[in-house]
Amino acid sequence: MKIVGIVCSPRKGGNTEILVGEALDAARSEGVETELIRVADMNIAPCDGCGSCAKTGVCRIEDDMQSVYRSFEEADGIIFGTPSYFSNVSAQAKAVIDRTYVSLLHGKLRGKVAAALVATRRIGGGQILSILYSYFTVQGMMIAGGGIGYGRKKGDVREGPGGSPVFTAIEEAQAVGRRVVKTIQKVS
Ligand SMILES: Cc1cc2nc3c(=O)[nH]c(=O)nc-3n(C[C@H](O)[C@H](O)[C@H](O)COP(=O)(O)O)c2cc1C
Repeated sequence: MKIVGIVCSPRKGGNTEILVGEALDAARSEGVETELIRVADMNIAPCDGCGSCAKTGVCRIEDDMQSVYRSFEEADGIIFGTPSYFSNVSAQAKAVIDRTYVSLLHGKLRGKVAAALVATRRIGGGQILSILYSYFTVQGMMIAGGGIGYGRKKGDVREGPGGSPVFTAIEEAQAVGRRVVKTIQKVS
């Protein structure tokens, strides 16, 4: 079993990365292989809508998204992390989402387990989870839930609350990692 976590914040070592890292650590402690992808290290162009992927089955843009496609295809579960930017996903997250149009057309993500993690100072968390759940649904993925971590400065989520009043941000992220593992075990 393999779980891939993708960190769609441009800020290296930031709150989204901490949340996704905690979720993957929790998954690893259940004996699962994990991979963390940081889009801040990558060059991923937006989809240009050329439509050629409908015929060819591949995206013709030769950039770092090609390695993300490979990681996603190998994964049984994907944890999608984004900061709240104006109560929406980051531009980096939207580029990744749109570039998986080819994956949608060819059913490459269908049946995989998905979860979302959002880092936010104050607002947008619930709205962004809904946006990501819609994306997962369109892709035919199985949604294993999601979590929110509150914090503004780098590292704030280590002390911040989670979306649920009874969880810290870190506890919520860890619960997401374990839930993805359990969901994969149930459906496979
Ligand atoms: C461009 C930009 C837009 C932001 N928009 C919001 C917002 O709408 N609501 C909010 O609560 N926080 C907002 N924030 C704060 C971030 O969501 C917050 O600092 C988050 O922890 C950043 O995660 P990161 O460290 O992974 O980048 C914004 C930050 C930036 C840089």
